[in-house]
Amino acid sequence: MTLLWNRADLLAATSGRFPSPSHDDIAATGVSIDTRTLRPGDVFIALQGENSNGHDHVATALDTGAAAVIAHEPCGVDDPRILMVGNTLVAMQDMARFARARFAGRMVAVTGSVGKTSVKDMLRHALAACGPTHYAVASYNNHWGVPLTLARLPACAAYCVCEIGMNHPGEIRPLADMVRPDVAVVTTVASSHLGLMGSIDAIAREKAEILLALPQGGTGIVPAGITGTEYFRRNTAAVGATLWWTGVTPDCAVQATDVTSDAQGSGFNLSLPGWQGQARVNAPGRHMADNAMLALAAAHALGADMGHAVTGLATFHPGAGRGAIARVMHDKVMLLDESYNASPASVRAALDLLGLVATGRRVAILGDMLELGTFARHEHTSLLPAVRANADIVFCCGPNMKTLFDTLPSSIQGGWTSDSSQLAPLVRAALRAGDTVMVKGSLGSRMRHVVTALQADGARVGPA
Ligand SMILES: Nc1ncnc2c1ncn2[C@@H]1O[C@H](COP(=O)(O)OP(=O)(O)OP(=O)(O)O)[C@@H](O)[C@H]1O
Ligand SMILES: [Mg+2]
Repeated sequence: MTLLWNRADLLAATSGRFPSPSHDDIAATGVSIDTRTLRPGDVFIALQGENSNGHDHVATALDTGAAAVIAHEPCGVDDPRILMVGNTLVAMQDMARFARARFAGRMVAVTGSVGKTSVKDMLRHALAACGPTHYAVASYNNHWGVPLTLARLPACAAYCVCEIGMNHPGEIRPLADMVRPDVAVVTTVASSHLGLMGSIDAIAREKAEILLALPQGGTGIVPAGITGTEYFRRNTAAVGATLWWTGVTPDCAVQATDVTSDAQGSGFNLSLPGWQGQARVNAPGRHMADNAMLALAAAHALGADMGHAVTGLATFHPGAGRGAIARVMHDKVMLLDESYNASPASVRAALDLLGLVATGRRVAILGDMLELGTFARHEHTSLLPAVRANADIVFCCGPNMKTLFDTLPSSIQGGWTSDSSQLAPLVRAALRAGDTVMVKGSLGSRMRHVVTALQADGARVGPA
């Protein structure tokens, strides 16, 4: 296991102090903020959350074998492993900057309205085939997720892949400055979090902030035709970085041709500055081909061996809730699990995916898209054309999806309920052998209930 933190580095990074002196050094091999997943050898950082306080779990962390504990409140325990700091979140951010500064590998950051985790995971598959690669586990893209990822970064890794997110103005820049990417990818500008951001223009301006954290000679990678083109152009020019537009037209620095997508996956020919070749990813859907193009462009901009990167990319599969495809109900139904999250752009992509891969009846199960504020009604009802084009029967839940459900022709109205736990049995009863069912909704809409109900052992299709 790689040594991440010793006593001297913890002190230097955080300016804290160990109240109980010890001559033993510290040899931490991980960083944890949750004792339920803490492993012996981790540094435990006692963060103060809205509903929980890590300081309540210090004794557990020490008992579990934490190499050190970082705290800012008295913990009621006297242990030489406890490092006292002014504020534990600030200390974690300081550790992040320290770890970033000693990292000699290549850093890439991914932001965007949708597709961040998909591109991040494609990149980690591509880069892992080229050298030791550190990456954000899960969607660790906010004020604690980004510094936690960096605090865990081994100095000797060749590559690091960070995800940067936002739902309020002003969030991207400080995180991007902490990450200091050599290459920055913006996946999309779309109406996710529109309620909190106010306009698509404001979202584009915020995403473009990531480019200001690039060094001179760094590379920004952005899809051509994105909203707010000028912000992306202006910000890369401001720092002396290079901007690669990705797309299908010859004027794009990163150009994909012969893009194909079927139920098995997506493929394309790719032309990059200084490299040309074919690529394939085990993820159906045009949006996944777009994501793969961004990932390979980033790998190339980082200087990775593209032969290995293409081979590594081919080992990527969409994760649970992000487009994973499985057979359920005794193999009789195909399930597209898109239940992790939803925004207008990703619901459209998921509906297109349903239309692309379905073999029998196309069944769409849609839960509310959240954080759209006063735009919610319009954003839900504007899904109508995509729904009509790709679904034969539609089940909805939640007050926002009611507005869409009521506009559907009665011939495709499967049913509406106020929440997903009520919807699950309705959907199960309606499914027939040969159906393809796609489940999507914001995390808060808990569409996972429907997925779990379809995956349950006893779930059988009704009579055809
Ligand atoms: N380029 C894309 N365009 C539209 N939808 C996409 C795109 N990439 C992924 N999606 C879909 O959007 C959903 C979220 O994908 P993903 O987790 O990769 O995004 P994210 O930006 O990391 O989301 P979050 O903000 O929740 O972390 C998934 O259902 C996925 O299939
Ligand atoms: Mg994510």
